[in-house]
Amino acid sequence: TVRHDFRGLLAGKTVTITAGPTREAVDPVRYISNHSSGKMGFALAQASLNAGAKVNLIAGPVQVMAPEGVNLTSVQSAQQMLDASLSVIGETDIFIAAAAVADYRPSDVADQKMKKQPGQDNLVLHLVQNPDIVATVARHVQRPFTVGFAAETQDVEAYAADKLVRKNLDMIIANDVSRTDIGFNSDQNAVTLLWQEKSTLQSHSPEQAAKQDLAQDLILCIAHRFHQ
Ligand code: CTP
Ligand code: CA
Repeated sequence: TVRHDFRGLLAGKTVTITAGPTREAVDPVRYISNHSSGKMGFALAQASLNAGAKVNLIAGPVQVMAPEGVNLTSVQSAQQMLDASLSVIGETDIFIAAAAVADYRPSDVADQKMKKQPGQDNLVLHLVQNPDIVATVARHVQRPFTVGFAAETQDVEAYAADKLVRKNLDMIIANDVSRTDIGFNSDQNAVTLLWQEKSTLQSHSPEQAAKQDLAQDLILCIAHRFHQ
């Protein structure tokens, strides 16, 4: 159900959302990734559509169906997700980084399948850090209103507040991923939305809810702050 105060909230605005995991190739048949389902990002895409926005959804490999009416770009790697994000930055009013981007990628991608070496009990993979997509967007000359997530297993709000400042974000959604009953791969989520107002930290913690309902609440909050 769409709350009646919701329709038209983002009419004429474009929201770009990153979602899901990224895959970082090791060789032609292997990759490094994570357990992100993409559900929270896709729920935010649906809620943004419900609020009347045009929605660009830039998604890593996920099992969920994209909401009808979104402009879906499917990507694999963090670099591809960055390129897709920058290609729509000029038209983006609100950027929401819900993707679980792989922090590192193999420094060299083997062009043939890597073979097990006889007698080699240990293998060291050399990794390099990926570009930070949301921080790049938030420091761009065409900077949109920028919202990030913070996946944390401890000191959730403190680490999230640090990321808010360090990445130059307008708002951050703090997510406690130590809880296995909710979050990363679940249909439910509990989060805290943080932002700065007159240089004091503000927060809003919606009740734990289905990701769809939570997404509506978050988009309502984000839209209010965006319009301020
Ligand atoms: N993010 C991003 N690009 C990256 C890494 C993260 O855009 N290369 C975004 C995520 O989509 C999220 C926010 O940054 O919106 C925070 O991600 P998180 O993994 O919590 O933070 P990191 O900066 O990667 O720090 P760490 O994993 O070390 O806690
Ligand atoms: Ca990370």
